[in-house]
Amino acid sequence: MNTKELKKKYIAFFLSKNHKEIPSASLIPDFDPTVLFTTAGMHPLVPYLMGQPHSEGTRIVDVQKCIRTVDIEAVGDPHHLTFFEMLGNWSLGDYFKKESLEWSFEFLTKKKWLGINIDKLSVTCFKGNKDAPKDTESAKIWLNLGIPKERIYFLPAEDNWWGPAGETGPCGPCSEIFYDTGARPCSKKCDPSCSCGKYFEIWNNVFMEYNKDAPQKFSKLKQKNVDTGMGVERTAAVLNGFKTVYEIDILQELLKKIKSLTKVENDSSIKIIADHIRFATFVLGDDRRIAPSNVDQGYILRRLLRRAIRHAKQLSIKTPFLGELAKIVIKQYKEQYDELEKNKSFILSELEKEEIKFSKTLETGLREFEKLAKNKSINAKQAFLLFQSYGFPLEMTVELATEKNIKVDETGFSKEFKAHQKLSRVGAEKRFKGGLGDASEETIKLHTATHLLNQALRKVLKDPNLKQKGSNITPERLRFDFNFDRKLTDQEKKAVETLVNKKIKEAIAVERKEMTFEEAKKLGAQMEFDKYPKIVSVYKIGSFSLELCSGPHVKNTKELGTFKIKKEESSAAGIRRIKAVVE
Ligand code: ALA
Repeated sequence: MNTKELKKKYIAFFLSKNHKEIPSASLIPDFDPTVLFTTAGMHPLVPYLMGQPHSEGTRIVDVQKCIRTVDIEAVGDPHHLTFFEMLGNWSLGDYFKKESLEWSFEFLTKKKWLGINIDKLSVTCFKGNKDAPKDTESAKIWLNLGIPKERIYFLPAEDNWWGPAGETGPCGPCSEIFYDTGARPCSKKCDPSCSCGKYFEIWNNVFMEYNKDAPQKFSKLKQKNVDTGMGVERTAAVLNGFKTVYEIDILQELLKKIKSLTKVENDSSIKIIADHIRFATFVLGDDRRIAPSNVDQGYILRRLLRRAIRHAKQLSIKTPFLGELAKIVIKQYKEQYDELEKNKSFILSELEKEEIKFSKTLETGLREFEKLAKNKSINAKQAFLLFQSYGFPLEMTVELATEKNIKVDETGFSKEFKAHQKLSRVGAEKRFKGGLGDASEETIKLHTATHLLNQALRKVLKDPNLKQKGSNITPERLRFDFNFDRKLTDQEKKAVETLVNKKIKEAIAVERKEMTFEEAKKLGAQMEFDKYPKIVSVYKIGSFSLELCSGPHVKNTKELGTFKIKKEESSAAGIRRIKAVVE
């Protein structure tokens, strides 16, 4: 079974259980200051997990594009990928453990669906701790379904508690399903939490009934939810009896192409390139148009692209080569993600620019590194020199050093970085505070202010085509990107501020409405993307602003205080960025 068939079956199965399908959200989270990328299907659904009604009802199914970068070093091993697709079925205060586990079991084992032999399945349940009790209910359900007691494992929170992805937000105990590859247990203690390769995780059922309010503090959510996640690539590998995700149809095509470009046999470099080009194509192809840079998502993109270019050099692959590989990814996925085709020229031109730029300094940089490495350690100044003069991301220097078994002063590098006042990965790290879907009073106010700003910009700059091209809100400030081809004058900035503050003073009610997507389009509602569910949620601020949005927002603009623009700058070609606060 290939990945396309798997996705189709999964959606069909949950449609037959009265779920509604929603499209994948952007890879760049919208209202979430704590993460750079969408790492799981739950990100775009946080407001609904917290109790806001979803326009498609209480049962949802989706295929979400996801990125996880915590394990970049592990890419190339049997099952780590930075970009992957996650299948998810959702109960938003609807069904709970019984239906969730029974349907997982039915989908996995019934001939009509995946037809996996039940003898191959092991499951885990939450062992319990001071925050939540042992999940004997799930274990009983598994037992009734026919999973023998010896293959039901109780594991601690480390393994069987999911979320929040940031510091706060929805979370809960989970029950995971593993496929036994038939390998010998590595020891007497070998169980599904072991990474020896005997057990392959394929599906996670999270029972999200808690909210993490603060460290060590949990409360019950308004409703009991189910969040499930099944990795498309992993499951496809299991179903075909493959030992690694790289053997599946979609990745094989890329590996073959890369192998055709080189005579050097180095499996791990080839896999790293294949993984990273998928990541890069999807990030560049996202409607939020992230380009390589030294901050936030742009930095991760640059880091992975440069890593791919370095590995290609090891394989003596002639540059430029990234574009050819990206074309394969676009072709593979454009039917499902039409943004890839739409943004194709942006993807290809950004890849080429980055490849040309880095290829120029890579070789001399590597020579410089070899010289420095003779001293058996790389100090902060040297690592910074490699970064500034040769474009080596710190992580690349560390990787090169690790290959030679030498150390890099990483802490010193960060200080050096700050001393040079570069906003940076350091800036990116700082953002990991607050919480997932942090709905603090401050962020909610800034969210409403963002809608006012969006409309005020269109009015003041008299440009009806001006649109949101990304937004990020922390408790301290809002950040708003929009398409506009020049710097704003001081008068224009002042005029935008004045207009927003006028609307705040007018004390306008902020109302949420549901309507069909067509109706919202007809009414001229602002929307960042082209693809939305049939029924959408729209926020209306008097006759001033109408915008597709899942909230949350303040009830009345008078709650906002005084709006102030702190900074207006370029963020990418043709894109301006405003940072603003309410005081
Ligand atoms: N959110 C859960 C996961 O990613 C389903 O494993």
